[in-house]
Amino acid sequence: MTMTRRPRRNRKNEAVRAMMRETRLTADNLVYPMFIVDGENQKQEISSLQGNYRWSVDLLVKEVEECMKLGLRNFMFFPKVEEELKDEIGSYSYDPDNFYLSAFRTLKKHFPEINIITDVALDPYSSDGHDGIVKDGKIVNDETNIVLAKMAIEQARAGADIIGPSDMMDGRVEAIRNALDEEGFEDVSIMSYTAKYASAFYGPFRDALDSAPKESSKDIPKDKKTYQMDPANKREALLEADLDYMEGADFMMVKPATFYLDIIHMLKSNYDLPIAAYNVSGEIAMLKAACEKGWLDYNTAMPEMLLSIKRAGADVIISYLAKDYCELVK
Ligand code: PBG
Repeated sequence: MTMTRRPRRNRKNEAVRAMMRETRLTADNLVYPMFIVDGENQKQEISSLQGNYRWSVDLLVKEVEECMKLGLRNFMFFPKVEEELKDEIGSYSYDPDNFYLSAFRTLKKHFPEINIITDVALDPYSSDGHDGIVKDGKIVNDETNIVLAKMAIEQARAGADIIGPSDMMDGRVEAIRNALDEEGFEDVSIMSYTAKYASAFYGPFRDALDSAPKESSKDIPKDKKTYQMDPANKREALLEADLDYMEGADFMMVKPATFYLDIIHMLKSNYDLPIAAYNVSGEIAMLKAACEKGWLDYNTAMPEMLLSIKRAGADVIISYLAKDYCELVK
């Protein structure tokens, strides 16, 4: 047989490869997650998440400016809260004077053009280390939603553009949407963690915030399996997506990303909302550890990881690699 079809012809040089390239990833697709601490002049490296830091607001402003020079305009922030400010209902989360909300005001003053994407969940503020309120060994859903709505309102008041509920309580998108609308924040969006799995890959994040479920004599669940999804389940993500769609989410997120590309693809095929994917801390830790060992090459493996998430169907990728990626392709 003579080969009339030779796919290699379309790979013969970079110009032809670039011409037919199906997936492109730019700074516009990326959200850079960053950690904030109270205080001044703080840049604390997170050992399990190399190249990422906890920033005090003064240095954070400079870092955000650096990132903007690379084309990044979308940022997601998480607070590292001191233990003594934590309590069972996470009340520090809706204290309008807390350092996290005050950082939003500072950032918006300097950079009105960026999008501030927030985190709504109790775990950074909870003395029990859960995303919801713990009562008699259970995470109570509806009472938690009341706190989440309060938190979202204060975030909107402080200048947040997109609210990011990462808690996986039932009905929280509706609770937050209604609360925002009642306060006149109709233009503030919700990026819902739609299909967030009870994953082993959040470890370095929990180190960064010291937010893991607490070991104690009290009856506190050791994992998040009663609210985050079972990694074995795919169809259940459609149920979560239906609910988020009806409740008014503006974006649907899948988390983690690389081990859940099938879920990303499924939501992209079934919904007309933008799909986001969170390339979580454990995914980065694996990549970085292998690169440090010399077993993988960072500058080729890193973009390949991000590209796979885009190719699967994610419009938006939340990744600790965002800055490195933009530096690499600049
Ligand atoms: C908790 C939250 C987690 C992450 C973001 N928000 C961890 C968890 O659910 O325990 C993980 C992000 C990452 O691993 O990068 N609300």
